[in-house]
Amino acid sequence: MAKRKGGDQSELFIGDDGQLRLLGKSAEQIAQEGRRVECLGMTFESEEERRAHFREILREKLPELRTRPDFPVADDEDILRLSDPPYYTACPNPFLAEFVECHGSSYDPKVTYHREPFAVDVSEGKTDQLYKAHGYHTKVPHLAIVPSILHYTKPGDIVLDGFCGSGMTGVAAQWCGTAPQKYRRELEASWKEDGRDKPKWGARRVILGDLSPAATFIAANYNHPFDLAAFNRATKRLLKEVWEEIGWMYETLHTDGKTKGRINYTIWSEVFSCPECASEVVFLEQTLDKKTNKTRAEFPCPHCSADLTKDSLDRVFETLVDAASGKTWKRIRLRPVRINYSIGKAKYEKEPDETDLSILSRIDDLQLPSEIPTNPFPIDKMYHGSRLSPKGFTHVHQLFLPRASQALAAMWRCARAYDDSRLRNMLLFFVEQAIWNLTILNAYRPTGFSQNSQWFKGIYYVPSQHSDCSPWYVLEGKAKRLGKVFADMPARSGFGTVTTSDCGSVGIPDSSVDYVFTDPPFGENIYYADLNYIVESWHQVLTRTEPEAIVDKHKDKGLAEYQHLMQGCFAEYRRVLKPGRWITVVFHNSKNAVWNAIQEAMLAAGFVVADVRTLDKKQGSYRQVTSTAVKQDLVISAYKPNHGLEERFKLEAGTEEGVWDFVRTHMRQLPTFVSKDEHAEAIAERQGFLLYDRMVAFHLQRGVTIPLSAAEFYAGLKQRFSERDCMYFLPEQVAEYDRKRMTVKDVLQLELFIKDEESAIQWLKQQFLRKPQTFQEIHPQFLKELGGWEKHEKALELLDILQENFLLYDGVGEVPSPIHSYLSTNFKELHSLDKDDPALRTKAKDRWYAPDPRKAIDLEKLRDRALLREFDGYLDGGQKKLKVFRLEAVRAGFKRAWQDRDYATIVAVARKIPEKVLQEDQKLLQWYDLAVTRSGEEA
Ligand SMILES: C[S@@+](CC[C@H](N)C(=O)[O-])C[C@H]1O[C@@H](n2cnc3c(N)ncnc32)[C@H](O)[C@@H]1O
Repeated sequence: MAKRKGGDQSELFIGDDGQLRLLGKSAEQIAQEGRRVECLGMTFESEEERRAHFREILREKLPELRTRPDFPVADDEDILRLSDPPYYTACPNPFLAEFVECHGSSYDPKVTYHREPFAVDVSEGKTDQLYKAHGYHTKVPHLAIVPSILHYTKPGDIVLDGFCGSGMTGVAAQWCGTAPQKYRRELEASWKEDGRDKPKWGARRVILGDLSPAATFIAANYNHPFDLAAFNRATKRLLKEVWEEIGWMYETLHTDGKTKGRINYTIWSEVFSCPECASEVVFLEQTLDKKTNKTRAEFPCPHCSADLTKDSLDRVFETLVDAASGKTWKRIRLRPVRINYSIGKAKYEKEPDETDLSILSRIDDLQLPSEIPTNPFPIDKMYHGSRLSPKGFTHVHQLFLPRASQALAAMWRCARAYDDSRLRNMLLFFVEQAIWNLTILNAYRPTGFSQNSQWFKGIYYVPSQHSDCSPWYVLEGKAKRLGKVFADMPARSGFGTVTTSDCGSVGIPDSSVDYVFTDPPFGENIYYADLNYIVESWHQVLTRTEPEAIVDKHKDKGLAEYQHLMQGCFAEYRRVLKPGRWITVVFHNSKNAVWNAIQEAMLAAGFVVADVRTLDKKQGSYRQVTSTAVKQDLVISAYKPNHGLEERFKLEAGTEEGVWDFVRTHMRQLPTFVSKDEHAEAIAERQGFLLYDRMVAFHLQRGVTIPLSAAEFYAGLKQRFSERDCMYFLPEQVAEYDRKRMTVKDVLQLELFIKDEESAIQWLKQQFLRKPQTFQEIHPQFLKELGGWEKHEKALELLDILQENFLLYDGVGEVPSPIHSYLSTNFKELHSLDKDDPALRTKAKDRWYAPDPRKAIDLEKLRDRALLREFDGYLDGGQKKLKVFRLEAVRAGFKRAWQDRDYATIVAVARKIPEKVLQEDQKLLQWYDLAVTRSGEEA
C-alpha cells in the first residue's frame, strides 16, 4: 500500500558504534524495508507496487493524452506494457510536473547565478563501452556532455534534453555522481590548468524526451536502475533457451563429414542475369576474390565472358509466397553462397551443401511466428521508400529471411515472458540490438573484422551481398559487455525521467529547469522516424511523425516547416528554463541553410547566443565561428535573458538606453579571458560587429526598432566600454582581462575569410587596425584572399570599398592618430615626432586607415545612401529575379523597410533573390521571417 513520506521513526536508535539501527525488527521486515521505494513523495512496498500504482493512473489518463498530436501510433495495452511510470512512459509523460515539483527548485531572482559559456568536444568518449552499450543513428557520447553539466549545474539540479535520442544526456547527468576517481582527478587537473574551480560532483536529475518510442525506450533503459545480477542470469538463460529451441537451424556439418559446427553467419548473394546471354550471374561468386577477400568492380560473365559491372547486370526477381498474407510475393533473387561456422574456438568457411539447403527449405515451410511485425512500410511517405519497394520489400517482416524471423521471434518471446517488467524491458533492450543485424540490410563485408552492424547507417539500403548472422554471433559478446558496463554505471532510481513526446510541448512548469543540453535533428540528414520504424514495429508503438522536426519532401516538410517546428521546440525550452540559465545546442552541420534555420529558431524563441564554436579536430582545440559558412560540428551556447533585462527592456525598447542595457547584460554573460598554451584567444562575441549583430537580433525578435546605426553603435561602444585587443569589456571585467593578458605571449586573432562585401570590410578593418597601408600594399593581399567570393555577390573594386568605408591620408595636414601611432611605434626614426612633422607626413602619405567613430558615422551615412539607391533599383527594376547583387544593399534596404513597417517591400525583394542565398544569410532570413509574420498579422 502506498504511504505518504514521513512515517513513524520511533524504532530508530543510535547504536554503540554511532550507527543508526532498527529496534525489534525481524530480518524479513528489514529486507522488506530495503525493498521499499520512495517515488514522487510516496512510499511503496516494492518497485512493482510503485509501477502498478502509476500504471493505473497512466491508464486513466490515456484517453486525454491520446488527443495530443504527438501521441504515438499504438494501442493502450502496448503503451502500458512498455511504460514504467512515472519514470518512463511510451507516450507523453503526465507525471513530469510532479517530478519537477518533487525534485526541482523554483526560480528565485534573488539567487545569483553566473556562468560563462562552455564548449564541449562532441567526439570525446566515442569508444567508451557505456556509450556503445546500445546504438542509435547518431549519438553524442555522455563523456562529452559531463563537463558541461558540471559547469552549468550543481548536484540535484534539473537538466532537460527534449531531443534525447538514446538518452546520453541522462547518462551524463547521473555520471556526475558516479564518475570514478581517476576521471575526477583528470578533469579537476585540466580545469585547474584552465583557471577553473573544481566542479561540484554529484548526480543531477534529468528529464529526457523524444518523439520516437524507439529512442525513449533506449533512453529509459539506460537511465533507470535494474537488477544487474538477474539481468546477467537472464541474458545467459535467454541465449541458452533459444539455442535449445532453434539451435538446429544454425548447425552445419564440418567438411570432415562428422563434426557439427555452429553457424556464425551465412553469406547470401543477389542473383542477376547477364544482359548479353541472359544467364544467371550469382553476384558474389563472380566479384569476390577468395584469396584476397576483395571484390572486383568489373568481371566477365561466367557463361559468355561478356565484360560486366554491377550496373550493367539485369535484376532478377523470384516469386515466393508471402508468409504473412499467403499471397504471391516478388522479391529480388537471393542465394546462400558461403557459411562461416565455428567448432570450438576455430572458425571455418564452406559452401552450403545439400543438408544446409534442406534445413533452410525446412525453415521456409514453418509458419511465420506471431511476434514478427507484418505491418506495411509507409513507402510513399518514406525518404528511402524508393530503395525498398523496387526490390520487393514493402512490409517489415519481409526484411527478415525465414531463419532470422524464427530466431528473432524466439528471442522476443523469451524476453517478453518475464513478469518483472523492469527486467523484461532490459531484455528487450538487449534483444533489440539484434533486430537490424538480422535484417536483409546487413551487408557482407569480406574484409570486415566482424559481420555485426554492417548495414549502411542512416539509410534503408538492401545490399547485393548479405551477412545473415546468428543470434549468438550478434549477442553473446554483447551480453558480457553489458554486464560489465552497467556494473560501472548504476543508474539511480528517481534521477531520470523519460517522456515520449514532442519537444515543443514537454509539459513541465515555467522556469523550472536549470540547464538544457540538446542535440536536435539537423534538417534532412537522418530520417529518425523512418529508421525507427522497424524496431518500433516490434514494440507495436510507432512514432507519430507529424511533429517530427525534419526536412523531408516525402512528408511535405521543407526548410520553412522544419524551422517552424524547431522554433516551437526552442520556445518550449525557453519557457521551461529558468531566466539567466543556459542551453547548449550541438549541431552537426550539413547545410548552412539548416544551421541558419536553427539559429533563427533559437533567436525567435528569445534566446541570446553567446558563443558558437567548432572543434578543430587537428588542433584538438575549439575555434570560434564568426561566419555562417561552416560545414562542421558546432556547439552553440545561448542563454535565456533574465527577468531584469526583459522587464527593463519593455520600458526602454527602441531607446538608446535599451541598446546599452542589452549590451551590458550580454557582456556579463561572455567569457572575459580565454587562453590556451600561452596564447590568448580573441573572443568573437566581444568584437564590435558581433555585439552589433546580437543587439540587432534582440531588438528584431522583440519587434522593436533599432535606434542606432552601426557606426553610431560602434561609436557608443568605444565611449562606454573599455577596449582591449579589438574587444569590449565592462569596467569590472577589464581589470581581470589586463591581469590575465600579462600572463600570455599574444592574442590570436580570429581568422576572417573574404567571401562578400561585408567580410571584405571586416578583413580590411582588421588589416588597417594592425597597420595602415597604401593601396599598393593592400591590393595584392586582398586579391589573394578573394578566392571564395560568392557567385551571387556583385564584384566590387577594392578602391570602391576603401572609399566607402575607410579614409585616406593625402599628406596634407596633421597625420591622423591611427597612422601616427603605428608609425611612431614601428619606426625608430619616427618615434616621438609631431603629427605634422614632414618626415612623418611623407611616410604616412597615401595610407588608408579605419576612421574614428565620428568620421565613421559620416561615412556610413554616405554609404547608406548609395546602398539604398541600389536597393531601390532592385525593388523597382524590371528583373523578376536578382542573380547578382549587393547583399549589403539588401540588408540596408531591409533595415529601412523594417523601421518604416514596410514589410511588403522586404517580402517582395526577398522573393527576388535566390532562395538558397536567403536561407544561407542569417541576417536576411531574420528580417524576412519577421516581415512575413508581421504582414500576416497586419493583413
Ligand atoms: C540528433 S538525435 C539525438 C541523439 C542523441 N543526442 C543521442 O545521443 O542519442 C535527434 C532526435 O530528435 C528526435 N526528434 C525529432 N523531432 C522531434 C520533436 N519534434 N520532438 C522531440 N524529438 C524529436 C528524433 O527522434 C531523434 O531521436
